[in-house]
Amino acid sequence: MCGDGINICIRSGCIEDIPDLEKIESECFDSSDYALKRRQFKNLLSRSGSTFLVALLNSVVVGYVCMVNYPKSARFYSIAVLKSARGMGIASTLFEKAEEDAHLHGKTRFFLEVKITNPAISLYTKSGYKVIKKIDNYYKDGSIACKMMKTINENI
Ligand SMILES: CC(C)(COP(=O)(O)OP(=O)(O)OC[C@H]1O[C@@H](n2cnc3c(N)ncnc32)[C@H](O)[C@@H]1OP(=O)(O)O)[C@@H](O)C(=O)NCCC(=O)NCCS
Repeated sequence: MCGDGINICIRSGCIEDIPDLEKIESECFDSSDYALKRRQFKNLLSRSGSTFLVALLNSVVVGYVCMVNYPKSARFYSIAVLKSARGMGIASTLFEKAEEDAHLHGKTRFFLEVKITNPAISLYTKSGYKVIKKIDNYYKDGSIACKMMKTINENI
């Protein structure tokens, strides 16, 4: 899958991507508390019930999205894009493709949790997510999480 204009490709992630994914984590999550570790990437990339996509900009892995599937729903686990590749719509594309993939597997409800102060909330709102709950002390630093949900038409 390639976008028009700039050379962005989206493909499934694989174990060989882990060194690039680790670089993305250390740049995108200022506290190592929130960054996924090598072992977690390995589990997420190899488990059958998850969708893991990476975005390549001019053949370099610059972003990823990971979604974990449940019987009828799917939960966004993490999404990140390198600073140098932001603002080009890469996260939006990853998000959309992951939803499409989950929908093909019968998922019609999508969930995610995001820190109340994270500007990424506007990405999720634009994609149709609504805050359904606020959870105190969700993160290690004690901050609040917004639990967001989106439902899509079961007949599409
Ligand atoms: C959130 C993140 C993945 C967005 O990546 P991106 O590729 O730049 O996002 P897009 O270009 O697809 O932007 C889509 C929309 O998201 C919103 N958005 C994304 N990042 C934003 C930011 N830092 N500030 C404000 N709005 C932002 C905008 O509304 C944007 O739409 P617009 O371009 O029409 O204004 C990226 O900023 C990132 O990696 N952040 C650090 C990791 C993180 O916090 N992940 C989310 C954890 S829940």
